[in-house]
Amino acid sequence: MKVTICRKGYFSAAHKLYNPKWSKEKNDEVFEKCAYPNYHGHDFEVHVCVTGDVDPETGFVIRISDLKKIIKQEVEIPLDHKNINMDVPYFKDKNPTTENLAIFIYSQIKKHLKKEHQLEIILHETPKNYVRYGDS
Ligand code: NI
Repeated sequence: MKVTICRKGYFSAAHKLYNPKWSKEKNDEVFEKCAYPNYHGHDFEVHVCVTGDVDPETGFVIRISDLKKIIKQEVEIPLDHKNINMDVPYFKDKNPTTENLAIFIYSQIKKHLKKEHQLEIILHETPKNYVRYGDS
């Protein structure tokens, strides 16, 4: 019987959406105010959801304190109070959209999980906008 356990994480970060191959006009047209050259910020909320069998000895899918440490180390420390375009090497040549951030967070967390665990990331950029990415 599979159960999903989720833990939330938070980070505040700056970014701008921009394609360097395009003109300023095209960037402004496609990304609108998100292309503003001097960046803008969001308070992100991320839900990290791990699905797996309940261990009969512990009653856990994953120990929540382990998940807490992984989120802190792999998501909050690298991203909180950062300029994502400038400070996070993964985004050197990649647009830091919510979609790409969710993929980044997935890859940061996934490497710490057991093979049999499924992972889903739900990343809220604003109270109204969020993306989901994961195994299910
Ligand atoms: Ni933005």
